[in-house]
Amino acid sequence: MIYDVIVIGGGVAGLMAAIEAKTNDNKVAILTKGNIFKSNSSMASGGINAVLGEDSEGVQKHVQDTLKGSKGLGDEKTIRYMCENAGRIIDKLTYYGVEFDRNEKGEIAQRSFGGGSAKRTCYVGDKTGSAITAALIKKAKSVGVEFLVNTYALNLARNKKDVSGVVALRKMDSSVVVYPAKPVVLSGGGYAGIYRGYSTNAADYTGDILALALRAGLELKDMEFVQFHPTGFTKTNYLVSEAARGEGGYLVNSKGERFVNELDTRDVVARAILSQINSGEEVFIDLRHLDKELLESRLPSLYKAAMMQAGVDIATELLPIKPVAHYSMGGIANEMCEVKIKGVYVCGEAGANGVHGANRLGGNSLLEGCVFGEMAGRKALRYSTGRDFLSVDYNDVVKDIALIDRVFQGETTKNFNAMRISMGRVLFEKAGIIRDQKSLESAFDYMRYLRRESGTLHCMDKGRNNNVELIGILELRNALEVAEAVVLSAMKRRESRGAHYRSDYPETDQNYAKSLLLEEKDRYFKIGFEQKGLLHRLRRFMTN
Ligand code: FUM
Repeated sequence: MIYDVIVIGGGVAGLMAAIEAKTNDNKVAILTKGNIFKSNSSMASGGINAVLGEDSEGVQKHVQDTLKGSKGLGDEKTIRYMCENAGRIIDKLTYYGVEFDRNEKGEIAQRSFGGGSAKRTCYVGDKTGSAITAALIKKAKSVGVEFLVNTYALNLARNKKDVSGVVALRKMDSSVVVYPAKPVVLSGGGYAGIYRGYSTNAADYTGDILALALRAGLELKDMEFVQFHPTGFTKTNYLVSEAARGEGGYLVNSKGERFVNELDTRDVVARAILSQINSGEEVFIDLRHLDKELLESRLPSLYKAAMMQAGVDIATELLPIKPVAHYSMGGIANEMCEVKIKGVYVCGEAGANGVHGANRLGGNSLLEGCVFGEMAGRKALRYSTGRDFLSVDYNDVVKDIALIDRVFQGETTKNFNAMRISMGRVLFEKAGIIRDQKSLESAFDYMRYLRRESGTLHCMDKGRNNNVELIGILELRNALEVAEAVVLSAMKRRESRGAHYRSDYPETDQNYAKSLLLEEKDRYFKIGFEQKGLLHRLRRFMTN
């Protein structure tokens, strides 16, 4: 099957990109490995930031809050573009059918979120991400976007330096297939899921798209910045939306004392909670002082999940919480969705374009996904218009077929599941909320060891239909590649900034007020701080 545009990833960024790229005369597909209703976007429950109406001062404050939150690594031009387009995006989403909650005056209601100097988070109860996702899926279907689900992207198909499609694995029968395309949009999500067992992410968020980008020769940026959401259920990691604090919830320790400004940025709140836990306290979110009606109407998902998963009635009882890996600020380095390979565009959590820097503000991820998904889709459409399909280099495809055959053919006694569980635990303990040189070195050695071992994994079950072991092994290999990049970047940044906190370098050091870039050759990473602007280097590439 041939498509004018292929979008990898079915979260809000990918959906928005596909909708924008679709016309009456072209074929556009979204390729996803899993369930499009269960992306990370649908779990960003608390809301989407936007200044509504004509309010340039309000937009300026949104820009300033986002820049401040980014702790010196935000890119003002990109942030400004996002904030200035936020109101228009809310109108577009409303037009697509998202029913944002309204106030008594019938206007879109807005709540407080951490790091915001004003109430600017628009919401649908505590189901904002899933409401936006559902509306975008409906819109994409209505304009004729096709969905290639249960299809796992292996690599970009290339024609010399340029992209010519996607090589993918059909889960149904484990066959390797090629989808020729003109441009390809990479929007396959982030990598907080590599903290397996300590993350709000769905289990299949293993950084596949970043590993694919590395193999294609693209650079990753700021990989050390992983956001730990302050509030997950202690047993199941279920996300207690920041909306719970935005609506007035308190954080208290076992003595019933509040110990932090609940609406400070997530890095600050997560560290304050960890420090309570490390001193022997339990930490809870306290919502008992809020009206039961408010809890039921504004936080309905939390109300139910607390009852079902933790046996807690939040109207009358304290809910135990802990910080969990939630979002990755690092990603594929890009400048306004563009990278050095012509015809490849990047958007959403997969990318790092400078809007979040060292620390993302809650409510800015859905916004970023929609704004830059729209931009990537428009650029992809422009690129594809009037352009011919390029041929695919089948030598690359043969390599992928051989790779899959090898995973099926050999024998192993090792268990990929045990390996991914220990990867998550070691990452959380040694490259988590607080790190230091010693813990990072030991995490790095362990990731290298696991990566070598993962090369010897084979499917015990040789059946080719929907083989979960095969996908698990491929995901684990990608996750370990990304994990190494995270740990290495964290070692290189000898300071504390935003979500990256090193107990051996607790201060922010102005010498490190730059992004860290990383690429991989023959399984070894080349890493260094950005010298000149990425834009400069991109232009150099494009003129070569
Ligand atoms: O807490 C939340 O509802 C998450 C929102 C976000 O990550 O932006």
